[in-house]
Amino acid sequence: MLDRQNLRKTQIIVALDLSAAADISPLIVQLPDEIQWYKVGLELFIGEGNRALDILTAMGKRIFLDLKLHDIPRTVERAVLTASQHNVGLLTVHASGGPAMLRAAATAAAQCDNPPLIVAVTALTSLDHADLTTLGVARDLKEHALALGRMAIDCGIDGLVCSPHEAAALRSDLGPQPILVTPGIRMPEGDVDDQKRVATPADAVKAGSDFLVVGRPIVQAEHPRQAALRILDDM
Ligand code: C5P
Repeated sequence: MLDRQNLRKTQIIVALDLSAAADISPLIVQLPDEIQWYKVGLELFIGEGNRALDILTAMGKRIFLDLKLHDIPRTVERAVLTASQHNVGLLTVHASGGPAMLRAAATAAAQCDNPPLIVAVTALTSLDHADLTTLGVARDLKEHALALGRMAIDCGIDGLVCSPHEAAALRSDLGPQPILVTPGIRMPEGDVDDQKRVATPADAVKAGSDFLVVGRPIVQAEHPRQAALRILDDM
């Protein structure tokens, strides 16, 4: 069971954007023990499935399974129950799956012995206003993301994935309870890669983020351990 009090100290989640499970352990052994959370996304999960999760469990690490579930309520409910049997601590769903799907995910998590926290993605950061118009969404992107976020929390979802630039507004709008997970973290001198709206670890913590998702600044660093220690130090 996750200790919610401990969660209130902001944690790093290292994004394992790798294709081979064999690359997981050589990376993790280099990183500070303080880093407990690792993200498995679509590429690694489709390539290696539960093998990736089992490696993390064997290494005593916590798992953020980022599969962005979006399906009928029963399918999502079953997926949440199954994820809980594989030591998944955080799991993503799409808020746009709607209230019934979100409630099904939250209800399923509440039934688990070892419940994952469910966090919702609102509007994908790759979408712009023109895409929303094509999708038939008339409201502005920020308003749309906020409305989806509020709906998800009202349906019992534990938190949201958001840009560090949205975290402070969401925190003041939604209060202290929802867990905020923020990718787009870069050190001031770091390369931004393809991220459009980045923040430093310190600024993301100040904005109220509970989990900082960090991929390339650690995984592709020449010295991953030093890169991770610099990020921890900045927090
Ligand atoms: O390498 P980088 O630190 O940019 O990686 C961030 C991680 O967070 C990647 O796994 C990326 O897919 C994920 N992510 C993101 N932006 C979102 C949602 C997820 O960067 N809006």
